[in-house]
Amino acid sequence: MDPKPTVGKASVLAPANIAFIKYWGARDLARTVPANTSISMTLAHALSHTTVEARDQATDEVLLVDEAGELRPAPEGFATRVRGHLEALRGRLGSDAHFKVATRNNFPSAAGLASSASGFAALALAVSRALGLEPSLAELSVLARLSGSGSAARSVMGGYVEWPAGPSEAENHAVPLAPAEHWPLADVIALVEVEAKEVSSLGGHARAASSPYFERRQELLPARLHAVRRAIAERNFEALGEVVEEEAIDLHLIAMSSKPPVFYWNPGTVAVLERVRRLRREGLPAYSTMDAGANVHVLCQPEHQTAVAAALSALPMVSGLVEDGVGSGPRTTTHLF
Ligand code: DP6
Repeated sequence: MDPKPTVGKASVLAPANIAFIKYWGARDLARTVPANTSISMTLAHALSHTTVEARDQATDEVLLVDEAGELRPAPEGFATRVRGHLEALRGRLGSDAHFKVATRNNFPSAAGLASSASGFAALALAVSRALGLEPSLAELSVLARLSGSGSAARSVMGGYVEWPAGPSEAENHAVPLAPAEHWPLADVIALVEVEAKEVSSLGGHARAASSPYFERRQELLPARLHAVRRAIAERNFEALGEVVEEEAIDLHLIAMSSKPPVFYWNPGTVAVLERVRRLRREGLPAYSTMDAGANVHVLCQPEHQTAVAAALSALPMVSGLVEDGVGSGPRTTTHLF
């Protein structure tokens, strides 16, 4: 059974997510207000584990768990981003407490998978609970969004999640579309890159509107969003997959045609995309999507997961797989210190 949260110190596990309709480009990047509505599936197994303790001191302490399981001071860049989020959380929650924070990801940190969504969702929830608060899902989504990672706003809830571009900027938050049990989909992540990407998502958002295709995608999005909501409601995998793959290609088309351009793909990405198209010709329904990186998320139904994993792991450019699927959102866990 999950341990009960205690006031003063709290530990949570929060999941990553994969976007079906991507957040790409912002109306107000400084306040993380997206240019478009996005929809994602929260994952089950790619998790950040975070412990936060409120303390009566003038500074925040940020620690990472190293590979030997020891707590170490976090590298400066990471610690600065965490402190920035803590400052924003204090402002929103009306607290002047400072915190000791420790965190680790249960997925390989060298795997090139985005960890900011899970990490900042975990931080928002653990800080709230360390202050004795139990925010609503909407408020928790706002708190996660204050990190600057928009995808974190979606990772605070499970299943299928929509983050509307929304009218009110301060209160902009994600909403649940359907719970995980509604439709158990699998996500086989083909790892083709283990290095950190050269251009962050923030850098990509900042230049997205300079692509000649940015405005065209905005015109296409209402129909695409409608198709994804409907495919989820009706559990229509082919209908979902077609739109999700088209949307992922458009995101990268915009990145590649931004000024200056951002190329997230590598030859391994192209090999996986080609193999997935061939799987479909062979009669196996599977569809690809990529966030701002080279690794490919291959969506399929659970009965095809073993076959999809076997086909992808046979590709020479795939260095490993992370097999995941839809999950039910953050939960309480054990303390890291
Ligand atoms: C392509 O600004 O949320 O993944 O903080 O790196 O997770 P991170 O990025 P964020 O942008 C996400 C961009 C995306 C699409 C998406 O997840 O919607």
